[in-house]
Amino acid sequence: MTRGMRIAIDGPAAAGKSTIAKLVAKQLGYTYIDTGAMYRAITYKVLQRAVDLQDERSIAQLIKKTEIELHPGERVQQVMLDGIEVTDVIRSHEVTSNVSAIAALTSVRELLVAKQQELAANCSVVMDGRDIGTAVLPDAELKIFMTASVEERAQRRLAEEQSRGVTTDYETLKREISARDQADSAREISPLKKAKDAIIIDTTGKTIEEVTNSIVNYAEKRLSQ
Ligand code: DC
Repeated sequence: MTRGMRIAIDGPAAAGKSTIAKLVAKQLGYTYIDTGAMYRAITYKVLQRAVDLQDERSIAQLIKKTEIELHPGERVQQVMLDGIEVTDVIRSHEVTSNVSAIAALTSVRELLVAKQQELAANCSVVMDGRDIGTAVLPDAELKIFMTASVEERAQRRLAEEQSRGVTTDYETLKREISARDQADSAREISPLKKAKDAIIIDTTGKTIEEVTNSIVNYAEKRLSQ
């Protein structure tokens, strides 16, 4: 069997984590796990059921009966919620602006972290999120903390939304991204934080290919040690 490893990629919103993580996983033949999609799926369900976002007890009850599955796809990872595909709807503006509040709840984090650890057990993965290197896989063999200027992140998100036919504007996206960074970094449980042993990669001004190659190089170096 070829040697494998677990690669944790953390960083703020829209830093390019999912795009890069998916490509790194493809090059190395590893499984890609988008943990943000799991928080988004739970948020979508809470909003659909019109449960009060402050009512943690009801949310905890609701998520106990929730099934989330991630399947590899050509373009993006396919997300199934209770047997129904939610890949695109979990990227809506409504989900994006409420996901940080749901992700700050203890019951939600306990459930999803356990599920993520289960998915990574006994296999080689590239997992992206906010707390992968600090809480989900603290003993991952390679940890990356990916950043980019808020201006560049807003610009990239704008291009992405426009290609999906979503009407939005740069200033709104920049405000949303900054608000999400603030909420994700300030929460009490497992906030967005660089793990002590993570390698920082600032993707500002770098191409997708450059960043992907540098992570694959780090991984190959670790594997040969
Ligand atoms: O990566 P993303 O933008 O799709 O993530 C959506 C939200 O989910 C993000 O704002 C914070 C939360 N999240 C988290 O708290 N922990 C993770 N491991 C991944 C995402």
